[in-house]
Amino acid sequence: MASRVIPVDPFDLVIFGGTGDLARRKILPGLYRRFCAGQMPEEARIIGAARSDYDAAGYRAFVAEAIEEFGGRDCEQIDAFLARLDYVAVDAKGTGGWSELAQRLRDDVVRAFYFSVGPGLFGDLAERLHKNGMATPECRVVVEKPFGHDLESARALNATLAAHFDEGQIYRIDHYLGKETVQNLMAVRFGNMLFEPLWNSQYVDHIQITVAETVGVGGRGGYYDKSGAMRDMVQNHLMQLLCLIAMEPPAKFDPDAVRDEKLKVIRALDPVDHHHLVRGQYEADAQNPGYREETGDLRSKTESFIALRASVSNWRWAGTPFYLRTGKRLRARSSEIAVVFKDAPHSIFGPEAGRHRNILAIRLQPNEGITLKVTIKEPGPGGMRLVDVPLDMSFAEALGPEGEEIPDAYERLIMDVIRGNQTLFMRGDEVEAAWAWTDPIIRGWEERGEVPKPYDQGSSGPEDALMLLHRDGRRWREIRE
Ligand code: BG6
Repeated sequence: MASRVIPVDPFDLVIFGGTGDLARRKILPGLYRRFCAGQMPEEARIIGAARSDYDAAGYRAFVAEAIEEFGGRDCEQIDAFLARLDYVAVDAKGTGGWSELAQRLRDDVVRAFYFSVGPGLFGDLAERLHKNGMATPECRVVVEKPFGHDLESARALNATLAAHFDEGQIYRIDHYLGKETVQNLMAVRFGNMLFEPLWNSQYVDHIQITVAETVGVGGRGGYYDKSGAMRDMVQNHLMQLLCLIAMEPPAKFDPDAVRDEKLKVIRALDPVDHHHLVRGQYEADAQNPGYREETGDLRSKTESFIALRASVSNWRWAGTPFYLRTGKRLRARSSEIAVVFKDAPHSIFGPEAGRHRNILAIRLQPNEGITLKVTIKEPGPGGMRLVDVPLDMSFAEALGPEGEEIPDAYERLIMDVIRGNQTLFMRGDEVEAAWAWTDPIIRGWEERGEVPKPYDQGSSGPEDALMLLHRDGRRWREIRE
C-alpha cells in the first residue's frame, strides 16, 4: 500500500542555525526525503542562515555531505534538491545579513522561520525579523525543545515569542508527536469501535510508558547534566504520550480541539509522591565510562533514568496508575506504551488456568507496530489449557511496500508547518502546564538532596524501579528490541 503524497504549497523556509547539528542530522536530510517523495513543489526554497561565512555553493556542499551521512534514502535527485538551497550569513545579535535575507524572501509563498538555535536567541531573532519587515502576519516560526528549564523560563519564552507572533504562528516541536506510531495512537483509539469502550479505569488495570535508550549522554553532557531525564524526556515526550493515551476524544481532529483535551489531562495529573519516584544514574563498567565520567562532574546528582507512578485524577482514570520510565544506557532501544487490561471478572476455567490479561502494546521504536495479547486454548488434546499469544501487526509489513521506510518525525512535522497544521505541535499553555507539574517534583528531590541510584549499563535501570511496581503487585514489561 504506497502512501499518497500530496505536494505542499510553494514555500520559503529559513533555517536559523542552518549549519548546526540538528539541521545536519534531521532537518535537511528530512527535507531531502520529502523532496524525493515528491512532496516539495518546484518553487520551494530553503535558505540556511547562520554565522558561518558560506556562499550558496559552499552551503550546498555542506548539505550534500549531511545528506550523504544522514540521508537514509537516495532518489538520485540530489542536484535538483540542492538547486533549491540558498544561504545568507546573519548575525543573530547584530545587524549583519538581515536586509540581504529580507531581499531573498518572496511575498506570494508560505514563509516559515525555523529557530534551530538555543532559546537564548529566540528573542533576538524575532525582533530582527520584525524590524526588517520579514515577520508577516501569515509567517510561521518553528521552535525546538528545550522550551524552558522550568515554568518561569517557559513563561518568559512564551512572552518573548508572543511579543512578535500570534499563538497560531508558533510551532513548538516535540518530535515524538511526529512519530508515525504516536499519531497512530489517535487513529487506533478514535478510528476503531473496539478499544474506546474499554479505555477507562473500569477495564484498564494500569498503563506503562517506556522509552529506553542504549546510548549514553555522549558529547551532550554539558546540556544534559543541567537537565536530566525528567526535563529532557518526561516533561515533554513522555508527557505527550501520556496525554494521547489518557485524553478524552476531541470533537474534531483539529489543532485546538486536540490540544484542549491534552491540556485537561496535564491539569488533572496529581503531584507525584516521592515514594512513587525512582531516579538512577548509570555506572562505569569495564568497557565504558559512567554517567559522571561522561559529563565530567564526578559528583553529579543528575538522573539518567527515571521511573514514576502518575495518576490522572478524573472520572475516566481515577484509580488507574500510569507508570512512566525512561533512561539511557539501558539493555535495548525500545519504546512502547502498554495498556494492561484487568483480569476477567470470573474464570470459568478455574484457578489452575492461571492468570491471563489482555495487553495492548503500541511499539514506537524499533519495529513500529501494535500487538494485542489475547488468551487462547493451547492446541492439542491435553484439556483446556490456556496460553497467551500476540496478535501482531508491524506497520512496515502491513503498510509499506517492501523496504520502504517509515518517514522520520521531522519530515512529517516540517511539512505540517508548511501546511499550517498545528495539531502535532505544543501550544504555549500546554508547555506551561507540563512544567507546572514537573517543577515541584524536581524541587522535591533537590530539597531532599537526593542522589540518584546507580545502575549497570545494559540493565533495566535500578532495582528500586522494579520495586516501584512490585509494591503494587505488578511488573514492568521487559525492555527488549
Ligand atoms: C531528545 C532528547 O529530545 O530525544 C535526547 O534530548 C533523546 O536525550 C532523544 O536521546 C530521543 O529521541 P528518539 O527519537 O531517538 O527516541
